[in-house]
Amino acid sequence: MAVYEHDVLVVGAGLAGMRATIAADAGGANVAMITKVHPVRSHSNAAQGGINAALTSRGDDWDDHALATVKGSDYLGDQDAIEVMCSEAGDTLIELEHMGVIFNRDEEGHLGTRRFGGQEVARTFFVADITGQALLQVLYEQIVKSQARIYEEWFVTSLVMVDGQCRGVVALELMTGQLHLIKSKAVILATGGSGRVYEPSTNGLIVTGEGMAMAYRAGAALMDMEMVQYHPTTLKGNGILMTEAARGEGAYLLNSEGDRFMEKYAPNMMELASRDVVSRAVQTEINEGRGVDGCVLLDLRHLGRELIETKLSYINEVALDFVNVNLADQPVPIRPGCHYIMGGIKTDVNGATTIPGLYAAGECANVSVHGGNRLGANSLLDTIVFGRRSGHTAATYAAEAGEKAISESVINADRDFIKLLMSREPGNDSWAKIRRDMGDTMNEHVAVFRNEDGMQTAVKAILQLKERFAQLAVRDNSQVFNTSLLFTMELGFMLDVAETICVSALARKESRGAHYRTDIPERDDENWMRHILVHASPEGPSIDYLPVVITRWQPQARSY
Ligand code: FUM
Repeated sequence: MAVYEHDVLVVGAGLAGMRATIAADAGGANVAMITKVHPVRSHSNAAQGGINAALTSRGDDWDDHALATVKGSDYLGDQDAIEVMCSEAGDTLIELEHMGVIFNRDEEGHLGTRRFGGQEVARTFFVADITGQALLQVLYEQIVKSQARIYEEWFVTSLVMVDGQCRGVVALELMTGQLHLIKSKAVILATGGSGRVYEPSTNGLIVTGEGMAMAYRAGAALMDMEMVQYHPTTLKGNGILMTEAARGEGAYLLNSEGDRFMEKYAPNMMELASRDVVSRAVQTEINEGRGVDGCVLLDLRHLGRELIETKLSYINEVALDFVNVNLADQPVPIRPGCHYIMGGIKTDVNGATTIPGLYAAGECANVSVHGGNRLGANSLLDTIVFGRRSGHTAATYAAEAGEKAISESVINADRDFIKLLMSREPGNDSWAKIRRDMGDTMNEHVAVFRNEDGMQTAVKAILQLKERFAQLAVRDNSQVFNTSLLFTMELGFMLDVAETICVSALARKESRGAHYRTDIPERDDENWMRHILVHASPEGPSIDYLPVVITRWQPQARSY
């Protein structure tokens, strides 16, 4: 075991983690970033469609962006936080451009935009359909230029808590199988979402929710965990994302009768209503027998080959590779699939969690800018705005935090757990079977449509899977890149996240945003303009509530 020491440690190297690292470095902190994969393999790489910003120089207005975000959130987003994000979006975008992101341009040579769902205005800036990848590469250049140390291919197994403060992490170096203690005055979790708790998912296999679960285990509050976004257009079979940018460029959704069915569900915004609305519409068409092999069709043919090959070339390649469809010639079968979690570790607008010294940013955090439903292209914005703010705040906190004695014995619990996993007699079960059963359960019962019976079934099933996990053995005893061990540890975190999703979903007795209950189909502002908080307790997840912050926009009936 080795012991390392920093002022600020950022866990995760996606866009939020990198932006936090750059900010903490700029703030003069001794900062390090720790990541279980090479930084540019982080899941932000898969973000396709773009990043929202209202640029005043183009006659746009951040108030309008904020209102669209509030309405998109189904009035569950905290309006003070939404105002921070939307008012800082313009400068954030220009800063990215100055760092070197080569955004698409329009015919006059200005920054180009496309329209995204839930917004009347085209304010989504983009790099073809690989925006996340473009941003990630540019931020990585900034990281390489900085003083930050990178622990690459290290997996954090727990947070180190001293006197109620977070003071570092225990981490497994994947190349050697050694556990290490990394002391840090402040820790920023930027570990991304938990999409793979569901199967299928648009998310990479690495998106396993450990940041949320670790914070939860350490005593932090998770908030709005019931709010899981299903993206309306994921590819038949494997659930790969077919970006909303396709509809932003003008693609249609068609049912088996060839109808643009969104006319029935959202006559004004059609295919560009907010995601929860479009996903419910697609799922309804499928459920009522107007689907095509369990899907509906996304039709881009009228956009023309040139537009598809220049602005949507990545999804065209995906459609060709996986379902043998050239988007210029044929519609592609799609259906809703798990994409994003609006819930996460509760933070303020500076990334501070309910634990001193612990910060969070990006999808693992819940600053409450997405509420019940995130607008497309607001997630990249969230990562950069709140990544920067949390890096800055954590550096300031660390400068005043003082020293604390930390015993090296803090690694013992994780070391004993790994020994136990490796010493158990292997049975017939495996991490892969449990993970698949968990994903299927969540996709069946806690998806686009939910009801009491289904959610009760899911919570019981997850508890049974936890019992199976408690007997699980890791068959591979090797030290070097032991992926069986890694996947098993990830699974333990995923089961905690799944449980908090089910329990929070059961607690919300209304329909709002992505949480649509067929047994209680109405939104209930009188009783449910409040967040659901979930804490770990010896008896299991414990639920609490917090009012939604309203600044300027009272809840309205939501139609598109
Ligand atoms: O459809 C998309 O490109 C997804 C974007 C997002 O989730 O923000």
